[in-house]
Amino acid sequence: MERRPLIAGNWKMNLSLRDAISLAKDIVTGILDIEDRDVLIAPPFPFLYPINKAIEGSKLFLGAQNMHWEEGGAFTGEVSGLMIRDVGCTHVIIGHSERRIIFKETDEMIAKKVKKAIDLGLYPILCVGERLEEREDGKTFEVVKNQLEGGLSLIDEIPDTFIIAYEPVWAIGTGHTATPSQAQEVHSFIRKWIEERYGKEKASFIRILYGGSVKPENIKELMAEEDIDGALVGGASLKVDSFLKIVRF
Ligand code: PGA
Repeated sequence: MERRPLIAGNWKMNLSLRDAISLAKDIVTGILDIEDRDVLIAPPFPFLYPINKAIEGSKLFLGAQNMHWEEGGAFTGEVSGLMIRDVGCTHVIIGHSERRIIFKETDEMIAKKVKKAIDLGLYPILCVGERLEEREDGKTFEVVKNQLEGGLSLIDEIPDTFIIAYEPVWAIGTGHTATPSQAQEVHSFIRKWIEERYGKEKASFIRILYGGSVKPENIKELMAEEDIDGALVGGASLKVDSFLKIVRF
């Protein structure tokens, strides 16, 4: 089964409104002739609404970097899935390692977010990945399996549109990309896990992205691996040239 590649830019907490809109517009123009892959950007919350307006009618997908699991209420400083859907998001990144590590998100919280996102018709991008010391201790598969089990604990059926991002923490923002074979090993483990739990057909649909220091120089070899279906790009998604080079791998 041919899975359609997805290149997603995670802008994190970067850019001014003006720069964000101009980057989004440049990406729209840069992908006009692209038909065979999906492209997504995940800007900071306050930029979602104006960017949605700026990219209206284009094929660029819009995603949020996080959401709360409740639809509304007394949760100062939080943003709900309903709200991000209202401002044009189709996708939402859930459980990014920066959320897990800096903001102490647990698998229980992540599971509730995943469930709510699916209930609202959003496409979750569930992030998993081991830390350096876990890899060195030979615990990579165990950590990833626990994160998958934890993050998916509240849903019985995984939609075909579900997306998983394997992002080894030691590769994020460090310049140390996982080698294609290191990444493929974990991607294939993830696909087998989906197959065991949800069946072979489902496993053949689910896209698994790689994230962690993806650059124009390494995207081609990563995408050549059988189970790598796209990339979640941080730093290199903030400049139109490098992002479009990655999109056009
Ligand atoms: P990076 O970030 O490309 O800057 O390593 C990736 C991510 O955190 O999604």
